[in-house]
Amino acid sequence: SEIYLHGLSGAKPPISTDFAALEEAASQTMPPEVFGYVAGGAGSGATVRANREAFDRWKIVPRMLTGATNRDLATTVLGTELPAPVLLAPVGGQSILHPEADLATARAAASLGVPMIVSTVASHTIEKIAEAAGAGPRWFQLYWPNDPDVCASLLGRARAAGYSALVVTLDTPTLAWRPCDLDHGYLPFFAGHPPATPLSDPVFRSRLEKTPEEDPAAALLLWSSMQSGTDFTWERLSVLRELWDGPIVLKGIQHVDDARRAVDAGMDGIVVSNHGGRQVDGAIGALEALPPIAQAVGSRIEVYFDSGVRTGSDVIKALALGAKAVLLGRPYAYGLAQGGEDGVRHVVRSLLADLEITLGLTGHRTPSELSPAALHRA
Ligand code: FNR
Repeated sequence: SEIYLHGLSGAKPPISTDFAALEEAASQTMPPEVFGYVAGGAGSGATVRANREAFDRWKIVPRMLTGATNRDLATTVLGTELPAPVLLAPVGGQSILHPEADLATARAAASLGVPMIVSTVASHTIEKIAEAAGAGPRWFQLYWPNDPDVCASLLGRARAAGYSALVVTLDTPTLAWRPCDLDHGYLPFFAGHPPATPLSDPVFRSRLEKTPEEDPAAALLLWSSMQSGTDFTWERLSVLRELWDGPIVLKGIQHVDDARRAVDAGMDGIVVSNHGGRQVDGAIGALEALPPIAQAVGSRIEVYFDSGVRTGSDVIKALALGAKAVLLGRPYAYGLAQGGEDGVRHVVRSLLADLEITLGLTGHRTPSELSPAALHRA
């Protein structure tokens, strides 16, 4: 109601409240190679489109006279109460968007109590981002190095800096074929936006002949060459279990058999995600992958969702189809680019307000009341 009353009294928000307008503004103000990197997807962009088409195929069927006046978005994720079923997805290289980068995002997220999932390839170190987040909840996302000592060092630092859960991204053993970035000759990490956490890591640095300050290109190439490659298999997850004593969530699950394997491997959660369409061109729209996975494993493991969430209705659809919470990616990245910390806060608060209002209008009081019965498949 605060957002609404403020808005209706003639005051305008710092940036647009509408995702399409925000993306359009970003396309006008960001350098083309940066906008292309953020907005773009793998190959022809078919998966980015499929993510939205999947949302469009589901329609909400609102219920009347359910007494849903006092709404409560609070939910429990990995045993911790959250104000809403929303987290900020890991987005690396945020200094391409705003000089304060992850620090601004961390402050905005913390001010709302929304967990930030901090990328391995963030623009600031995990320690500095933790400091900016203060008491705010934070998870650490791992791009899994094949050097066990480097991996152990990163995880030890994350634990010491108060990151409560580990998110292991499985869908990016190597960067996808991204023609737009190739045509622009652009990758943030080689364009003056290096990943601070690995490059500051003492064990990683011990693997280099010269420091990253003396030879940034060699440091980046070594880091790239340490990425898990395609030779990792499910058995290797036991190594992470030994290195991390908190909950572990696997990000990038799209096949129901992989969801079952995550359960068998004793994982705590999965993110049904196709990396926002950035990895496999022509992949299944992420929301299409969600119902069978939630049905198969939803009672044994926490299932989260990302890729294409833009509005409160989108969150409702994902929750109704079995997700416990959703992750938000590009919308808050554009918020950061357009308005720094205030921009991120505006985007996230708007999504939560939209969710709260729309949940009530569909006849529900809490996220847990949602089920597939709230939807119609068009
Ligand atoms: C990402 N994503 C991502 N994922 C991850 O695990 N580690 C990372 O460092 C990044 N970096 C990253 C950068 C940029 C610019 C984007 C757009 C995305 C993927 C991200 O976590 C999430 O899966 C998608 O962004 C979700 O889709 P939407 O909400 O952007 O459609």
